[in-house]
Amino acid sequence: MTGFENKVILITGSADGIGKSMAERFAELGSNLLMSDLNENINLIADEISKKYSVKAVGFKHDVSVEEECINAVKKAMDEFGRIDVLVNNAGITRDNLVLRMKEKDFDDVISVNLKGPFLMSKNVFIYMSKQRYGRIINIASVVGQSGQAGQANYSASKAGLIGLTKSLAREFARRNVTVNAIAPGFIQTKMTDKLDEKSKQQIISQIPLERLGLPRDVADAAVFLASDSASYITGQVIGVNGGLYM
Ligand SMILES: NC(=O)c1ccc[n+]([C@@H]2O[C@H](COP(=O)([O-])OP(=O)(O)OC[C@H]3O[C@@H](n4cnc5c(N)ncnc54)[C@H](O)[C@@H]3O)[C@@H](O)[C@H]2O)c1
Repeated sequence: MTGFENKVILITGSADGIGKSMAERFAELGSNLLMSDLNENINLIADEISKKYSVKAVGFKHDVSVEEECINAVKKAMDEFGRIDVLVNNAGITRDNLVLRMKEKDFDDVISVNLKGPFLMSKNVFIYMSKQRYGRIINIASVVGQSGQAGQANYSASKAGLIGLTKSLAREFARRNVTVNAIAPGFIQTKMTDKLDEKSKQQIISQIPLERLGLPRDVADAAVFLASDSASYITGQVIGVNGGLYM
């Protein structure tokens, strides 16, 4: 894949898991990175990626659910790089429980990070992308936002909402040549799925036609495609990266 040299990619929640894997994939292709995360080690993680791939990677501590912090993250990217080509809204959390046991705070927190966060980031990045008349926004949703999931009413509602947000932003931003798409991963091997016990994992795998959990790299490759010139006529879409779990 070419055309990524010196592009500026802002990835939220990129200290670990899928976000970190995406950061490495874009860095391999020569892109510069603004890596944001709640995790204070994000600076060290960005430094490592910068050295390993000889690109500029800047870490920034940031909570996507707080508007002022989103404004600062976008400002940091503009100060460091002067432009933002791609925003990946990746930061996400789970607070699983059956509805009858789910606390109001667990519902609110998940919606704040997984749905309000991408709204705040997209709004503030679009201010600059619209002036550039170029941009790509990629939202990391989930298969459970499409199918629903017992024990994840908060999480699946946040991801279904993110799909609706993706389509609305795609309609609003298209006239400025900014595309907005979502990736809906299935079950991917990260800390989020490490929480599942072996029996639940095997049960899930038995329902996946490709008979394995996905790798962070599988999601990263879909993000690279959506950010590439090959995807310039694709907007408002949801790409499933789920091994066939949901069709
Ligand atoms: N792992 C899966 O199976 C799976 C499946 C579908 C969708 N997803 C989605 O993919 C994304 C990444 O998931 P992951 O599995 O890599 O998770 P992860 O827990 O490994 O990584 C998430 C990162 O987001 C950061 N984060 C959490 N809250 C934040 C906040 N308020 N502000 C900024 N950063 C914050 C965390 O510190 C962490 O580094 C999430 O949106 C998740 O919902 C994951």
